[in-house]
Amino acid sequence: MIFTVAIDGPAAAGKGTISKAVAAHFGFAHLDTGLLYRAVGAKVLAGGEPVAVARALDPVDLEDDSLRTPAVAQAASEVAVIADVRSALVDFQRKFAARDGGAVLDGRDIGTVICPDAAVKLFVTASAECRADRRYKELSGKGLDVTSEQVLADVRERDARDSSRATAPLIAADDAVIIDTSDLTIDAAVARAVAVVEAAKRAVG
Ligand code: CDP
Repeated sequence: MIFTVAIDGPAAAGKGTISKAVAAHFGFAHLDTGLLYRAVGAKVLAGGEPVAVARALDPVDLEDDSLRTPAVAQAASEVAVIADVRSALVDFQRKFAARDGGAVLDGRDIGTVICPDAAVKLFVTASAECRADRRYKELSGKGLDVTSEQVLADVRERDARDSSRATAPLIAADDAVIIDTSDLTIDAAVARAVAVVEAAKRAVG
């Protein structure tokens, strides 16, 4: 059974948490596509050439805890502007989406570019302040030396770059269901997402 759930949205809106929970609930595989761009960004910070690095990316490159730092997030959004970097990563994402048994992919352009025919499209968002607050707690909880002002500035800078780029900008697909998590608990946001997927599964039988 091919059943793809596309979950897009800006930084720290709750996509990752919702995606993991939806995948676990339905027994689907999950791909955090941000890790692809983060892995390319990290290799570029280490001196690599963006397009060459993207073409040579290996799935094991995604299993690296150091990809979660603010410096790598910024580098990811810089390489994500490059059209040849994005196209080098398309096949891997589409193959993952088409795997038997169902797949959840989260990112910025899954419902618009990678999987325009996805069975379910969600756009998960929240105010910039809310998202920065969550990301600040996540990063400082891991012992990273960050200030809330810096995290908010980083989130805004990345939002602006991701939304204004020419190739695959961050935008909700016309047929996406919007979930604003600003005033939702994690459980409530997950329940909403699960209900949308459940309804779509029933519709396809
Ligand atoms: O976790 P967070 O939402 O902060 O970021 P991420 O999903 O790991 O993505 C890091 C960066 O990769 C984003 O700011 C985007 O520039 C880029 N990205 C993208 O362009 N397209 C995707 N499908 C996923 C991420």
